[in-house]
Amino acid sequence: MSNIIIDEASLDSLRERVKPYMNEKRYLHTLGVERECEALGKLLLPEKVNKLRAAALLHDITKMLSLEKQLKLCALFGIIYRKGDIMSPKLFHAKTASELIKRDFPEYADEEIVSAVRWHTTGRRGMTAFESIVYLADYIEDTRTFPECVELRSFFWDSYEKDKSDLDAIFLKTMIRSFDCTINGLVSESAPIDNDTVDARNYFLESFWENSNEVHQS
Ligand SMILES: [Fe+2]
Repeated sequence: MSNIIIDEASLDSLRERVKPYMNEKRYLHTLGVERECEALGKLLLPEKVNKLRAAALLHDITKMLSLEKQLKLCALFGIIYRKGDIMSPKLFHAKTASELIKRDFPEYADEEIVSAVRWHTTGRRGMTAFESIVYLADYIEDTRTFPECVELRSFFWDSYEKDKSDLDAIFLKTMIRSFDCTINGLVSESAPIDNDTVDARNYFLESFWENSNEVHQS
């Protein structure tokens, strides 16, 4: 399904349908991601705001499941994983949710929605704007209280308020900071770092460098 039409009524109904998949805290976070996707989408991808909101509502539908259940879904959907992935159990929900959308919410199994859900935790090299918005909204939505999340939310919105003409550079800088924070956190916990996260950070660093060079050359 590539030309899905999503209006307020379908979002209202989707909001009710995802509720049984999560506890109250996760649901409030999900609503926060929807709000943040709406705000970021209006600036960065205005023609796809409602589709971003739908991806937000669906992004954590398997987050509450135990590792055992995640592995059962992997077997059911033919999701391939490495033995070492079990050291980072949080990574499974992005893979299983993207497959569960196809089974439980087939009318939302749009390529962009499925891939934004698939990459919302690790990021990846060459992330689309749609994927990046869902990823960042998940990180900075307003129910998050971790100092890094609060700081990054202020960094993006304050920088944008200061200079609205510099949106692309501000967005790239925010993405780089988010991956720096994630990687620093993982190193401090001696946890493994997914290769896609390293690739995503380097991709945004390179994009920022290319953008700055273009500015200097012109
Ligand atoms: Fe989330």
